[in-house]
Amino acid sequence: MCGIIGYVGSRPVLPILLEGLKRLEYRGYDSAGVALHVPEGIEVIKAKGKIVNLEETLNGLEFESSVGIAHTRWATHGPPNHNNAHPHVDSVGDLAIVHNGIIENNHFLRRFLGEQGIEFQTDTDSEALAQLIAFYYEGSLEQAVRKALSIIEGTYGIAVVHKNHPRKMVGARNGSPMVVGIGENEHFLASDVAAILAHTRQVIYLDDQEMVVIEDGSFRTKTVTNLEIQKPVQQVTWDLESIEKGGYDHFMLKEIYEQPSTIRNAFRGRLLEEDGKAKVGGLTDNIESLRAMDRCLFLACGTSWHSALIGEYMIERLARIPVEVEYASEFRYRNPIIDDGNVAWAITQSGETVDTLAAMREAKTKGALALGICNVVGSTIARESDGGVYIHAGPEIGVASTKAFTSQVTVLAVITLLIGRFHNLSKDRGQELVQELKAIPEKVEKILAMDDEIQKIAKVYSKADNFLYLGRGINFPVALEGALKLKEISYVHAEGYPAAEMKHGPIALIDENMPVVFVSPRGGDNEKILGNMEEVKARGGKIIAVVNEGDVNASALADHVISIPETVDYLSPLLTVIPLQLLAYHIAILRGCNVDQPRNLAKSVTVE
Ligand code: AGP
Repeated sequence: MCGIIGYVGSRPVLPILLEGLKRLEYRGYDSAGVALHVPEGIEVIKAKGKIVNLEETLNGLEFESSVGIAHTRWATHGPPNHNNAHPHVDSVGDLAIVHNGIIENNHFLRRFLGEQGIEFQTDTDSEALAQLIAFYYEGSLEQAVRKALSIIEGTYGIAVVHKNHPRKMVGARNGSPMVVGIGENEHFLASDVAAILAHTRQVIYLDDQEMVVIEDGSFRTKTVTNLEIQKPVQQVTWDLESIEKGGYDHFMLKEIYEQPSTIRNAFRGRLLEEDGKAKVGGLTDNIESLRAMDRCLFLACGTSWHSALIGEYMIERLARIPVEVEYASEFRYRNPIIDDGNVAWAITQSGETVDTLAAMREAKTKGALALGICNVVGSTIARESDGGVYIHAGPEIGVASTKAFTSQVTVLAVITLLIGRFHNLSKDRGQELVQELKAIPEKVEKILAMDDEIQKIAKVYSKADNFLYLGRGINFPVALEGALKLKEISYVHAEGYPAAEMKHGPIALIDENMPVVFVSPRGGDNEKILGNMEEVKARGGKIIAVVNEGDVNASALADHVISIPETVDYLSPLLTVIPLQLLAYHIAILRGCNVDQPRNLAKSVTVE
């Protein structure tokens, strides 16, 4: 996600824009820029990296301007560099736009506009929208924006200015938040209130398919289909600090709650329900290698290694391709055996983890095709891979990974569908996967609604110093992930095990002081997990069970039950992990830990 702020008023615009961008930097920070209305037209100044770089670029420059737009970028298309930074302009620089979202049909738009003789300057999808608005411009900026929005597919939050309309700014929203700030003879546009709260508490929140035309002290709200609408003016009561966390106490909690939308973003535009297939732009150039892939190597660390284990279950079960999941830190030194037809996948949120980067380089040295599954566009691993898939989770600020994990698993499900349909996966099974995947976000919402119940369970066990997490099949990696979440933010010792493995030693640990978390949805071989629960009960152990609604057997054995909606077994980790994220979060809070910045940890481990 990116940060947008725009201003139309009588005060110097640049300080307002820069201050607003700083309030939005947590939304994205790989480049930034401003577009100002100056007497000569539209002046655009951009810089790669953090906003401080933009400030240095602007240092000492004076502009006579009280209308402008600004943007801090989280790249989704095109690496983070000066050229791809927003604002984007049309070919002659009359119009400037800042955009937050993903234009899914931007390849079509580029082809269409290219045929009209329009040459593109950047690698971004957002420029396609700028050029399209300019293409339709015949004197009315509002009308040109409306026409352009009527043919794009995807999500947007935009602010647009034009040389011929020095006191006007047009905004619109579909899927990416946009708020209108109402001041004394001045108006604002922003991605969220944090950017403008220093100037006004009177705001209007645009809804999807709505737009606003701001001109010299007044504004009009409309639908993008040109119907005038009245929107309620709301009073912001929050303080600035809480707003940057979207009203949540911590970024980690905010990111846990973002998962319905980030999971949707991970599969958006990639599922072909009619044929039960998938399409992934970043894999197009390697599709024949994927068709011929005879062994799949996952290289990852930490939480990403857990999502890789889930990918192993998915691909081996549905695509029948052998998969090996490797700790990147081990793989890189093991002189691995790589054959033709082997494909190495580096799975990494940051795209900068040094062990994963080194492992990918080693696989490439040995002749493997190297693909990336990354969150950060233009990261080192993304750039050095031979192709790959972005998970579109937006910046993950909390050190403990949550939304990136579920987005990685979602993308792995999409890849499983893509590859599986080359082989044994039937159209019907493919359609089932598509339908079940599309239903996941709503089911995650239902689980998030159980937060208070999970917090109560956390209170019961917050003093325990050791936990055991047990799961079977595709939920064994979820047990590992739940244990890691608890470890890294609450500093409580926790181990994840395959449930059947407990009897080979760990059961010696079981007593009333060792809570055991069972991850046991229906399906797969989870029916056997009841026997493991009986073994724990027989030794006085306390059981927290994550089960499907209506599972009376598991519920009868557990001391505390978290009942979640059901889905197909191979997608169940997307649901079973949510209660474990919340349980870890609440226990950490109860133990007074710094959830967003746990001791000894860094968000990206770029050192050995
Ligand atoms: C997860 O909560 C941890 N922060 C850590 O294990 C992390 O998953 C690991 O360092 C890998 O990071 P990456 O996904 O950015 O490569």
